[in-house]
Amino acid sequence: MTNSAVGTQSFATEKAAKVGRKLRWAFVGCGGISTTHLKAIAKIPEIEVVAGCDIKPERLKLMQDEYGIKAVYEKWDDMLAEIKPDVVDVCTPNGVHMPASVAASEAGCHVIVEKPMAMNPAECQQMIDAAKKAGKLICIGFQFRYHPNTEMFRRAFDAGEIGDILYVKCQALRRRGVPNWGVFGQKELQGGGPMIDIGVHIMESAHYCMGEPRPVAATGNCWTYLGDRPSEVLNAWPNWDWKTYTVEDLAIGHIRFDNGAIMQVESSFCAHIEKDIFNFQIMGTKGGFNWETATIFTDRAGTMINSKAAFLPSTEFGALFVAKLKNFADACLLGTPMRAPGEAGLTVQKMIDGIYRSAEAGKEVVIA
Ligand SMILES: NC(=O)c1ccc[n+]([C@@H]2O[C@H](COP(=O)([O-])OP(=O)(O)OC[C@H]3O[C@@H](n4cnc5c(N)ncnc54)[C@H](O)[C@@H]3O)[C@@H](O)[C@H]2O)c1
Repeated sequence: MTNSAVGTQSFATEKAAKVGRKLRWAFVGCGGISTTHLKAIAKIPEIEVVAGCDIKPERLKLMQDEYGIKAVYEKWDDMLAEIKPDVVDVCTPNGVHMPASVAASEAGCHVIVEKPMAMNPAECQQMIDAAKKAGKLICIGFQFRYHPNTEMFRRAFDAGEIGDILYVKCQALRRRGVPNWGVFGQKELQGGGPMIDIGVHIMESAHYCMGEPRPVAATGNCWTYLGDRPSEVLNAWPNWDWKTYTVEDLAIGHIRFDNGAIMQVESSFCAHIEKDIFNFQIMGTKGGFNWETATIFTDRAGTMINSKAAFLPSTEFGALFVAKLKNFADACLLGTPMRAPGEAGLTVQKMIDGIYRSAEAGKEVVIA
């Protein structure tokens, strides 16, 4: 998406409101993140939530009691056939993203799917193909590309202030933060651990800032040394299920791109570090950037200058969800550009998959 398209977003939303038509929106997966979506949707007048689907009756009851969603289903086929929504919002564990998205596309719905796009690149391709065949949109829930710090850097990059990007260091590190809900510790249902769960966030936003070059090779290493055994050490969320834990605690990856740039990624649920880190730093031929501090590093007036944003809009988590769902709603209603189309999800998935494949193979692997 171009800079000017970013700038026209609020105008497009105003226009959508004037169109007067509401998007009939249905959820598949009514767990934790769907409630964050629902709170954001409450601020987007052009969306009307019409149904929810979950395999857990207690989640469906919560949708009815707390969010007033009357039509609830345990099977998405029933929901799609009876409700015929415009949009399906897939908020299930990763292993269900592909079948739910494909079913929704085949039923003629636009799809927005939470991150990561799916379990692996082959599934992502199936989802893109199904959406294309149906002539419908598929969007990935990458909210960090709507973060004001990300947008600030992308504007600087587009304006040529950074030059060619050489190196990007991405970190999504928790000192001790194994999720104690959902199936985040189960590889067969999630595709992996911290790299696919939180590494994906920092990689996708950094990759967006780099202008989305094509990844060509990956190396990676993964280690499990704490999550799969009982521990008396405090965790951010108590009592995770160590008995079913089959994912990595720490993953380190290295990606090479077709333009010569490289990206290093570090991601952990458990790591012996001073504190949690969620950041990326970029080094280019003309400038650099620290995402967390929203600071651009350049040379000017015969010296080295640090340019820190004096003002940025809200970086609050909920605001990012409003931005990402609005961008998609506008795309559905008005045909404006999606900032995170399926192809962006597929490219990021190829990078994650390359890191995991390399960790298994013990050598660098090609990304096709
Ligand atoms: N964008 C973000 O910042 C963010 C944050 C958290 C989670 N997520 C993503 O959202 C997804 C869900 O995570 P969560 O934290 O909400 O997990 P969760 O376990 O709280 O919710 C998942 C829900 O999906 C339901 N489900 C499972 N199989 C189903 C099926 N076949 N049909 C219908 N429903 C089914 C479960 O019963 C559960 O209620 C994951 O892909 C995760 O990576 C994104």
